[in-house]
Amino acid sequence: MAKTATSFACTSCGQASFRWMGRCPGCGEWNTLVEQAARPLADGRPARRDGRATGRRPSRPAEARKPVVLAEVDSGEVARLRTGSDELDRVLGGGLVPGSVVLIGGSPGIGKSTLMSAALASIQAGGGRALYVSGEESAAQVRLRADRLGPHALAVPVLAETSLEVVLASLAHERPQACVIDSVQTLWSSDLTGAPGSVGQVQEVAGALERFAREHGCAMILVGHVTKEGTLAGPRVLEHAVDCVLQFEGERERSFRTLRALKNRFGSTNEIGVFEMRAGGLDEVADPSDRFLRDAEPVAGSCVLCAMEGTRPLLVEVQALVAPTDVVPPRRVPNGIDRNRLSMILAVLARHGAPALGSADVFVNVAGGVRIEEPGADLAIAMAVASAARNEPLTAGGSPSGCFGEIGLTGELRYVAHADRRLEEASRFGLEQIVLPARCADDELSPAGRDLAVPVPTLAKALDAALGGRAGRSRAA
Ligand code: TYD
Ligand code: MG
Repeated sequence: MAKTATSFACTSCGQASFRWMGRCPGCGEWNTLVEQAARPLADGRPARRDGRATGRRPSRPAEARKPVVLAEVDSGEVARLRTGSDELDRVLGGGLVPGSVVLIGGSPGIGKSTLMSAALASIQAGGGRALYVSGEESAAQVRLRADRLGPHALAVPVLAETSLEVVLASLAHERPQACVIDSVQTLWSSDLTGAPGSVGQVQEVAGALERFAREHGCAMILVGHVTKEGTLAGPRVLEHAVDCVLQFEGERERSFRTLRALKNRFGSTNEIGVFEMRAGGLDEVADPSDRFLRDAEPVAGSCVLCAMEGTRPLLVEVQALVAPTDVVPPRRVPNGIDRNRLSMILAVLARHGAPALGSADVFVNVAGGVRIEEPGADLAIAMAVASAARNEPLTAGGSPSGCFGEIGLTGELRYVAHADRRLEEASRFGLEQIVLPARCADDELSPAGRDLAVPVPTLAKALDAALGGRAGRSRAA
């Protein structure tokens, strides 16, 4: 069979070229040319070699179609496929949507294959048809993993294959309801000359799999790799095409893993799922606050944060260490929080309360290896740093305390949502004082929540309330 002609197109300006060039002759950008397969046009005419239409007008004029008012569009509520894991289902927005494409990324060894094997096992056990396509591992290696996951996992059909054409033919034959491609970077199409994993190949592979998913209502899960910088390698270009992008993260040395949605056309992107890697696969952590707070001690430099991750309150310990240094400039080392956020908080602290930190290294860590992204974490970071700098624990007369709130540049505490649910979680864990922005106390709070709340308007007041108790406690009225 003759090889399909391929062409190269610039991802930046669209300039087409017959051969690969390091620099695009159109826009002058470097390294933007990507190989593409030339597809025949819908009416059977071959496409021009540069992949564009031949420029001739279609023989028949196209018929006009009438737009539909949105309210009259059938929203097509379809039953979702449950994956057997409440955590995964919640992050997906209630399960896998048939005909959708999910991209899951994460560094090597984090547990992507384990999570996917378990999900397929549960779908297969529930009477669904699942297929695991492994381009990375042999069928024997996949089996070894499945052995650890239990008998259901062994019932999943596996196809160890890297050729896109063979995979598509097998998919058309098997017609699975859920299919995992592990990983999208290992599959390659013989239409293209690029190596597997190159941008052109990844786009081609994902495009073909997506067409299959949409046509046959199969829930397609593409596993993708992550580069050293933490972005999805190659598949970055896929993030637009897929319906849902999940990121599986955690530290390999520790057992906790978090799953979050970076994009989700069928649900919220605020949800996280928490898992723990055990000898028998990934365990769901239904009560993450309990796990994350287990080792928290009321010592200087430790602050309990009442965070919200999506619809779910989460208590985590934020730790800080302030150490004198001769290094100029001193180091700022954030772990689990954003570096710029830490710089901003230190600047506000320097202006509104804490002792000078100009000649001290500051380390901040969210215990348990979790990453916290919400602005409500600001106050806990500030409190932990101030507590470490003053070497005073944050306790309300010896009883455990916590806080939440966003810090503004002028040192004011800003409103964050869901005060009630955060307080409820805090009271469930026996915390006795929660410092929070004064505005949040205007929310409707439960009596138990009101009992814990210490509303304060500014960062300076918050430090007074929590450190040394100089300002005393001023409970919400
Ligand atoms: P894996 O799912 O292969 O990671 P990825 O596909 O993201 O590269 O598994 C990652 C690690 O998890 C591996 O080093 C072994 C470990 N593991 C367990 O601790 N328990 C288990 O039950 C399984 C299956 C794996
Ligand atoms: Mg894997």
